[in-house]
Amino acid sequence: MATFTTIFEDESPSITINPLHKLSKINDNIYGGFTEHMGRCIYGGIYDPGNPLSDENGYRKDVIEAMKDINVPVVRYPGGNFVATYHWLDGVGPRDKRPKRPELAWIGLETNEFGTDEFLKWCEIVGTAPYLCLNFGTGTLDEALGWLEYCNSTQDTYYANLRRQNGREEPYNVKYWALGNEMWGPWQVGQMTKEDYSKRAYQWAKAMKLLDPTITLILCGQDGPSSWDYYVLKECIKHDVHGLGGDRTKSLIDMHSIHMYTADKEHLPNATAPRAAERAIQITSALISLARIENGVPNSVPQQTICFDEWNVWDPVRAPGEEGAEEKYTLSDALSVSVWLNVFIRQSAVVGMANIAQSVNVISPLMTTKEGLVKQTTWWPLWLFSKYMRGSTIAVNVRCAEYTGRTAPEWIRGTIETPYLDCSATVSDDGYANLAVVNVHEEKEFATQIDGVTADKVEVWKVTGEGVAAVNTSGTETVTAIQGEGWDGKGKFTFPKHSLTLLRWKI
Ligand code: AHR
Repeated sequence: MATFTTIFEDESPSITINPLHKLSKINDNIYGGFTEHMGRCIYGGIYDPGNPLSDENGYRKDVIEAMKDINVPVVRYPGGNFVATYHWLDGVGPRDKRPKRPELAWIGLETNEFGTDEFLKWCEIVGTAPYLCLNFGTGTLDEALGWLEYCNSTQDTYYANLRRQNGREEPYNVKYWALGNEMWGPWQVGQMTKEDYSKRAYQWAKAMKLLDPTITLILCGQDGPSSWDYYVLKECIKHDVHGLGGDRTKSLIDMHSIHMYTADKEHLPNATAPRAAERAIQITSALISLARIENGVPNSVPQQTICFDEWNVWDPVRAPGEEGAEEKYTLSDALSVSVWLNVFIRQSAVVGMANIAQSVNVISPLMTTKEGLVKQTTWWPLWLFSKYMRGSTIAVNVRCAEYTGRTAPEWIRGTIETPYLDCSATVSDDGYANLAVVNVHEEKEFATQIDGVTADKVEVWKVTGEGVAAVNTSGTETVTAIQGEGWDGKGKFTFPKHSLTLLRWKI
């Protein structure tokens, strides 16, 4: 959470934090990833058999190392829009028997060479939790239950035995399951009305929890401020004890998913666009509360959290999905991603998971080539936040000037401010205060009074570059995270133009 007071551009800004003012725990899952059968994300991304950079399973070792480096806690799979025609049984068992299928989301061909066991094994090697999304387009409830049984059951039953037959004795214990993806979207095979979706989601949720009550179920929302979100929450967040063994501390739906992509060709609308996501989170959280109040859900049932399971900078006209959506990210985009991450820190009380879409090659900070990896500009804020911005959110009070021009989307203006210094702060479990400040101003640095720095040794990390159009390419990665000279915590600290700065000190 942050409070914000506007001042004139020629006035001196100030930031106040107090490491004792802890607000909420940050769920590590905000640093989640997403791998879809789309473009070069799976094939040529995480899975590249025959490449000398791959291991004996065909997994790219450099990608695994990168995932470990950002300590990715959870990865969503297999889509995305792809999942609306995906039948998981096509992707298990002997590879030579797996059928090739037409793929309708991105108009391709799916070989099914990579499927459930390959993904779940990859997750184990990376050390991340899998998050599977169910096919609500052409899929059936029987298939969904079969998939859950295949992944999690220890019983002597058909699909659990099929898993054993395929070489995996122990269950995978997949915890996170999504009840479809973007089922409101006209592009979706099997698009539904909110009424049809709610009925189906509720019945599937009941059956899934009857089979495995330990799972976390995620409802398919839209982007937050929509009648779809209101309706599906109202219909599905009830306190129906069927399937829950009468337990008054549980609910069928545990999380509500929303998606948003931001982008603009001009720097300031681009960098401030994630404020729309912050407003969307606030609205979604209010809708969750409203559904609970209207449905009389007892307080003993924990508040459902928001699963922001697709977020990023993406302009689908610039980088079309059907062409693999290989965005080339600029420093402006890296600053936008930094603001996105600040949003998740500030809203940690209500955000239970967030997944950057996607983890490799497709609208991704990480690009593979046959010879290696390129870390795009957007990799570095993700790396820095994931490394240090964990623990608990603390309050930040900011006084600075505000960008007052056009925003993308337009509705940001008037509903939430767009300060030049976008800030969030945390206290990590090992006793460090961390203050992330994104100066989105293209030309102006800000000498800023920082109240609450209680040490004379402050580590300083920066992500910046020549100009907001700077990009990283193979061999010339000019935008990275650099640890600069330390600061003694005295006087004002100057935040350079177009930069992300992370200040950290022991408390
Ligand atoms: O991440 C790319 C696509 O964007 C996903 O498949 C879909 O869910 C969203 O529209």
